[in-house]
Amino acid sequence: MTASPAPLHPGTFGAYQNEIYLAGLSGVQPNYPMKYEELEDRARHAMPPSMWSYVAGGAGDEHTQRANCAAFQGWGLVPRMLVGAAERDLSVEVCGLRLPSPLFMAPVGVLGSCAQDGHGDLAVARAAARTGVPMVASTLSADPLEEVAAEFGGTPGFFQLYPPTDRELAASLVRRAERAGFAGIVVTLDTWVSGWRPRDLATANLPQLRGHCLANYTSDPVFRALLPPGAQDDPRAAALTWAKVFGNPVTWDDLPWLRSLTELPLLLKGLCHPDDVRRAKDLGADGIYCSNHGGRQADGGLPALDVLPEVVEAADGLPVLFDSGVRSGADVVKALALGATAVGVGRPYAYGLALGATEGVVHVLRSLLAEADLIMAVDGYPTVADLTRQALRRVGCRDVRC
Ligand SMILES: Cc1cc2nc3c(=O)[nH]c(=O)nc-3n(C[C@H](O)[C@H](O)[C@H](O)COP(=O)(O)O)c2cc1C
Repeated sequence: MTASPAPLHPGTFGAYQNEIYLAGLSGVQPNYPMKYEELEDRARHAMPPSMWSYVAGGAGDEHTQRANCAAFQGWGLVPRMLVGAAERDLSVEVCGLRLPSPLFMAPVGVLGSCAQDGHGDLAVARAAARTGVPMVASTLSADPLEEVAAEFGGTPGFFQLYPPTDRELAASLVRRAERAGFAGIVVTLDTWVSGWRPRDLATANLPQLRGHCLANYTSDPVFRALLPPGAQDDPRAAALTWAKVFGNPVTWDDLPWLRSLTELPLLLKGLCHPDDVRRAKDLGADGIYCSNHGGRQADGGLPALDVLPEVVEAADGLPVLFDSGVRSGADVVKALALGATAVGVGRPYAYGLALGATEGVVHVLRSLLAEADLIMAVDGYPTVADLTRQALRRVGCRDVRC
């Protein structure tokens, strides 16, 4: 069956299950997996092996990546009865934007290559338009950010900046994002150097160095001016120039410069320590993005969920976006109860993209939202504001799934 547009008004996300059961009466079964394990398994077969390894893998022996998922199993939601949560409101406010749900799509830098037609960034932007779930569009993209933003429909989008070593290039990318209508800039701080990733090392595969997903660079006048004379359309020259400018190990001293680049809301991705959060707030950040990059950057770390409560406390009212390890609607609800303002998914929607382009992504997003909505219904938490730390208890069982 084909996923139809999600309701944009809050509170009816759970209705996705009615559509599925009703279609079943006519003998129509869902086209896409209903269980995460099956989604992962089918994506593995839909993608070339090296691309699968790049997306599914992480740093080191992937302990942090597994711990991100397992951390959710350490919490249980307390059911409350006789609440009458017949209508739910999952809407949230992020940097002055009212969003129909707390879900967003984390930046994924190889979406282009995940899609069968090579234009995954556009397919994901269309899924954002269909669902109202914002996309944080990566600097690493197979299509220029202007073309991605043009597919957002009425859904706001955020541009994720990997600050390059060339400040003019950084300014140019941000200016382009502003002109294209992005609603905020997310600066990623934890990836100025790639982490140690044995799966990719085993196949000697770094997609960008092979010229993939560099459209934001090759379409940029400042980047083009950095190319050697006569090499304007040489993909190899573009990849080598990209490698020279990609990673800027920005420090606190650079933050006023980053702040000065835009008047759009500025959010900092990768903050996991309360002191860093307080300092970012003092230096003018508009939002904190708590994440360990899905365990792709440094192994032997803490599950991102475990640091979320202290990050929220230090943010002291600033919005806190969260990702890393979210695999279900239950995970979304738990992250909200631990104080996240909005909750991001990475790999799951990339798998939906590999399976079914826009339709596959829409299915993954609608499934996450439907499950979150129905848990809030059953357990008696009608609004996001009702999901507080009091809604959770620590539990012993940790059932590691990924
Ligand atoms: C294949 C892949 C590429 C990614 N590319 C980027 C990127 O370009 N920029 C960025 O800030 N984060 C990137 N991330 C990290 C995600 O934004 C997010 O932090 C992470 O995927 C969340 O964890 P999850 O995959 O467990 O949901 C990437 C993640 C994956 C899986």
